[in-house]
Amino acid sequence: MKRHRVHKEKTDIAHSIDWNGLIPKHIAIMMDGNGRWATRRGLPRSAGHYAGMQTMRETISMCHKNGITSLTLYAFSTENWKRPKEEVDYIISLVVEFVQDATVQELNQNNIKVHFIGDISRFPEETQEAMHKVVKLTQANSGMAVYFAMNYGGKNDIVQAIKSYIEVNIEQNKDTSEISEAEFETFLYTGLNPAPDLLIRTSGEKRLSNFLLWQAAYSELWFTDVMWPDFNEQLLYESIRDYQQRKQRALDDITT
Ligand code: FPP
Repeated sequence: MKRHRVHKEKTDIAHSIDWNGLIPKHIAIMMDGNGRWATRRGLPRSAGHYAGMQTMRETISMCHKNGITSLTLYAFSTENWKRPKEEVDYIISLVVEFVQDATVQELNQNNIKVHFIGDISRFPEETQEAMHKVVKLTQANSGMAVYFAMNYGGKNDIVQAIKSYIEVNIEQNKDTSEISEAEFETFLYTGLNPAPDLLIRTSGEKRLSNFLLWQAAYSELWFTDVMWPDFNEQLLYESIRDYQQRKQRALDDITT
């Protein structure tokens, strides 16, 4: 009975979206609350991260199914190194676990292309190899792009972009005194695909926490109290419906 009700709500929300109208093309997610999810169940925090990885896998599939073209996931921040070594090591080990053959096969079946953003050189060799492997094995895909933010920080992104910009321009003997916003942002880790239309954060926190500081300048923000491992399709639909309603209101305000 309960299962039936949940399914009905889910489809009602999906039906309240105009799928030919304004749909976010690029969604970014701050997957927060794994630790609290586990602690509330009397489980170690690692169990929360494992469950979070499964939800991440399902979310990639849901976004693909619903026509989202880019998905950026905040998986490991520059601040996350401050956590106990055991927890850091566990989260990092999940990357290798994620890049099992089965996952790569699924990504390829769904035509999904994987990218990593952030300074991945700080990760162990084995992890970097796994990252390069999944990027290489999915690089020919032309469907949805998934960006995993790993050792990513928005401030660090801006600083590394400034350094690269100067380096490239000095190499080519170009004048660095004039720079446009459009030119600058191509040097960010997100390259030619910078701005999320919709940024979701789970677990009730309402901060940007150094995620996509430049790129999220005009993003619609959507928050839920639900912990990341419990994120589901119904919540994804709610966020898309709210995004669409806000955008429609903004259009109505301009035209009336
Ligand atoms: C935030 O919850 C979550 C993280 C720091 C890690 C997120 C990682 C994954 C979902 C898996 C990553 C896997 C791959 C393959 C990239 P939290 O620990 O801050 O939760 P809390 O705020 O309740 O403590």
